Amino acid sequence: MDSYIALKHTHTLLAFISILGFGLRGHLALVMNRPLTNPIIRIGPHVINLIFIVLGLVMWHISKLPLLGWFGLKMIFVLAYFASDGLAFSRAKQGLRSQGVVFYVLGLIAFLIAAWIAVSKPVLF
Ligand code: HEM
Repeated sequence: MDSYIALKHTHTLLAFISILGFGLRGHLALVMNRPLTNPIIRIGPHVINLIFIVLGLVMWHISKLPLLGWFGLKMIFVLAYFASDGLAFSRAKQGLRSQGVVFYVLGLIAFLIAAWIAVSKPVLF
């Protein structure tokens, strides 16, 4: 298999694991209101996200996709996803659960839009 395709499949699989981890942490911390004490649940998603971002950056380097186009639009939603992730759990830790839930839902929506843009590659210009 072409190594670029292998990278893309691994990136897509890690994206799927990333959203499952976000969903699970959000469910525990925000829906069930339980602290995230298990180190696998606390640290695991960060490790997955790091590998996932590095693979994306490697593919971007190889593909030379322009930022002015679907890829740049996807990056805006990717940033919104990671920012919402951080904000949702920091609000939960501060006891601001309803704000945390808002960021959690925004994060889920941002992820879905980023994934839709990546798959459908809309022509913008
Ligand atoms: C919410 C986060 C992300 C999601 C949901 C996501 C999703 C995906 C998916 C599903 C694909 C495969 C598209 C296809 O089948 O053609 C893909 C490809 C790609 N992703 Fe991501 N990704 C995310 C984050 C990132 C990041 C952080 C980077 C790098 C900065 C990145 C760079 C790329 C590149 C370069 C491709 C290959 C594009 C191509 O050659 O067609 N992605 N992404």
